[in-house]
Amino acid sequence: MEIRTVGVVGCGLMGSGIAEVCARAGYDTIVREVDQSLLERGLERIGRSLDTAVKRGKLAEAGRGSAWERLQGTTSLDALAPCDVVIEAVIEQLDEKRRVFSALDEVCPPHAILASNTSSIPIIELAGATRRPGQVLGMHFMNPAPVMPLVELVRALPTEETTLDAARAFCDSLGKRVIVAQDRAGFIVNLLLVPYLLDAIRIVESSTASKQDIDLGMTLGCGLPMGPLTLLDFVGLDTVCYIADILYEEYREQRYAPPPLLRRMVAAGYTGRKSGRGFYDYRDGSTDRPPA
Ligand code: 3HC
Repeated sequence: MEIRTVGVVGCGLMGSGIAEVCARAGYDTIVREVDQSLLERGLERIGRSLDTAVKRGKLAEAGRGSAWERLQGTTSLDALAPCDVVIEAVIEQLDEKRRVFSALDEVCPPHAILASNTSSIPIIELAGATRRPGQVLGMHFMNPAPVMPLVELVRALPTEETTLDAARAFCDSLGKRVIVAQDRAGFIVNLLLVPYLLDAIRIVESSTASKQDIDLGMTLGCGLPMGPLTLLDFVGLDTVCYIADILYEEYREQRYAPPPLLRRMVAAGYTGRKSGRGFYDYRDGSTDRPPA
């Protein structure tokens, strides 16, 4: 199957990163947001990330120009009609995602693969909203998508082998390494990562160590790029709490249950970098930053 045109639904943090990756890999990329101002914000984010890639020597100036030309923004799902692959990256709400998949099924050509970047919703629920369940799968990029080299492909019960093969070849062409998981909550990465992050919060709750020392323990002690509390702030405490709830719902194991402090911080709006405040304080003038 030849893939020329890729659609991305959602131009938030993940959608914009995924659209950037596709355009940089040479695909005509159509990215859709619900309204013009969100679309403009997403496209600006892509522009800034392309600039960073040029500054860091990861992308030639000419490559920046051609990637940008390959990108087309839209607020209409109908504009995704020419797409061979569509990657959905909208809000993690089942009803909304099912609506998107059902609409894509109407609009996209019969050969098109419909993928979801979901980290927590069962792929079968999305496949069931279409008349092409064999061509639906999970394509879970890591944050930040332009930098992290991994994609998890998630196979639902009806996903056809040819769909998986085509998705694997597509991700290879994006320069990503692929791992494959069955359609169970957490797939591989979050099944391992989330309990680790929750344990770090439990260490804070028990006052065993300071937040800085917990983070330094894992960066300097284990060579990880970010400590767990810094990573929680980076991913978003609300996102982690949401995924933890889904994991707990599926497996009913205590290690997946969100600790009370996580729920309280989310309720207080301390969701991490995006709100300016999480375990650390990112607001102007604050010195309470993650350890260097
Ligand atoms: N395009 C291409 N490359 C870029 C880039 C861009 N826009 N921006 C930065 N880079 C490159 C840099 O050139 C650098 O490459 P190098 O190592 O070859 O020099 C590398 O990316 C790191 O960039 P920076 O030096 O600017 O930044 P840091 O060194 O501070 O790293 C980070 C930032 C990559 C975010 C790093 O801290 C990291 O890897 N953190 C962990 C992130 C992580 O764990 N993500 C997964 C989260 S879980 C998830 O996503 C699942 C979800 O479902 C919750």
